[in-house]
Amino acid sequence: MSTIDEEMQDPRIREAALTVPVYGQLPFVPERASGCDIFTRDGRRILDLYGGHAVAALGYGHPRLVQAIQEQSSKLLFQSNAVALDIRADAAEQLIRVAPRALERVFFVNSGAEANENALRMALKATGRKKVLAITRGFHGRTAAAATVTWNADKWYGFPNKPFEVDFIPRDDIAAAKAMIDDSIAAVIFEPVQGVAGAYDLATEFIETLRSETSKHGAILIADEVQSGMGRCGHFFAVQAHGIDPDIITSAKALGGGIPCGAVLCTREVAALFGTGALGTTFGGGPIAAAAIAATVQAISDEHLLSNVREREAQIREQCVTGPVTRIQGMGLLLGLVCDRPAVEVRDALLEHDILTGTSSDPNVLRILAPLVLQAKHVDLLSQTLAVIMPTMN
Ligand SMILES: Cc1ncc(COP(=O)(O)O)c(C=O)c1O
Repeated sequence: MSTIDEEMQDPRIREAALTVPVYGQLPFVPERASGCDIFTRDGRRILDLYGGHAVAALGYGHPRLVQAIQEQSSKLLFQSNAVALDIRADAAEQLIRVAPRALERVFFVNSGAEANENALRMALKATGRKKVLAITRGFHGRTAAAATVTWNADKWYGFPNKPFEVDFIPRDDIAAAKAMIDDSIAAVIFEPVQGVAGAYDLATEFIETLRSETSKHGAILIADEVQSGMGRCGHFFAVQAHGIDPDIITSAKALGGGIPCGAVLCTREVAALFGTGALGTTFGGGPIAAAAIAATVQAISDEHLLSNVREREAQIREQCVTGPVTRIQGMGLLLGLVCDRPAVEVRDALLEHDILTGTSSDPNVLRILAPLVLQAKHVDLLSQTLAVIMPTMN
């Protein structure tokens, strides 16, 4: 084969020629994956501590998830919400079982941004108000409403106007939260652990203030758990670590273990405001997604993955403040390794040693979003590699 032919076989070159070039892509081509390992086209085995942007909760090739998807696809690949499905009811039942007790209804969608878009729409309609508060440095997605509540989204927002008024509470500023949440506010949306911002975990007292002030003023509290939920923080939802019940939780990413899906979980009272035709989507709650959701929730419960996440977190905190890492923030397996140099340098050096991690919008924070099935030997490898390849900078 000529060099030109070989180049044309390379998906990086083919993608660059055929798709809108909006993604900075990593320098390897995955061919298959198993557990926490990615096997590349050129024969490398890479330990995946990034999980495809926090999606691969069960790692790769998890037998229960694979079987659920296979069985459902041969039985009934698709039907819309025009008909009721056992598997959709199963998925809703599983989610409600593990969610904070007040959240008893589910609206299924297809992505994190779409979950937030609908949650915000529900809050605006439920309160009849026009203004939403979000938190500085938060990320909620790229659609119109989700981007409106995303910190600094102006650089890529792309629409001439915003759909509602928004203001940002400085993160962890309890006095500002008390001053800003009043009777004009429809909703406050927050990530319990700010993922894109570098796994920054908001203080319990701040989150409690958001809850008490929204309750006092009749506003809806929306926890965006697209990244922090589904067991990632050592609880099914990170708000459960703080003991607070929001009015709405949004979920996506790990929700279907890799099958695209999203969900809005809400109270009965909020759900009761929405009748036939008030919300909708073609694919949301489709049978493959529903089968994946039910299997993922069941696997997290049955295989005790929440305790595994907490154990691996403790191990990372104990072993990985080494080499370039000066401090660790975050919760569970949504961790920010604060580095003494640009995180991108650390990510690239680790990748040369076949360990995949992620960066964040904080230039010095390296993000760990590992599968919940991570093992002790993987953390050992990470700490040894950090210590050896990247000695402390002085
Ligand atoms: C907290 C949070 N909310 C929403 C989103 C958007 O999700 P999606 O990319 O599925 O639209 C993301 C994606 O990174 C996220 O981290």
